[in-house]
Amino acid sequence: SEDEVVNVVYVDKDGVKINVKGKVGDNILYLAHRYEIPMEGACEASLACTTCHVYIPHDYLDKLPPSEEKEDDLLDMAPFLKENSRLGCQIVLTKELEGMVIQLPKATRNFYVDGHKPKPH
Ligand code: FES
Repeated sequence: SEDEVVNVVYVDKDGVKINVKGKVGDNILYLAHRYEIPMEGACEASLACTTCHVYIPHDYLDKLPPSEEKEDDLLDMAPFLKENSRLGCQIVLTKELEGMVIQLPKATRNFYVDGHKPKPH
């Protein structure tokens, strides 16, 4: 229904804006994939990569559940880290996130840490 719609904007590495109608409960990694937005997500949201790295505006960061230690450890290894970096696969849409602009970094790098491997799919 309409009350479940959450409008967000992705901005790709070239600054191109893509308006997306998400829904409450959508994971912003998989939402991006539905719109063919180039957010990689190499580990399928299992917190074992940084290829879903995004920047979230400061006024929306406060509306998100805080990052877990594992997410922060991974982000420390992400290229182009900023203080408003998050891993996109850990962000699920809520009504409060209406209007959020999700900026993709200039590049991501894929690697595996602590022996984690992406889940087969
Ligand atoms: Fe790998 Fe998000 S997809 S940590």
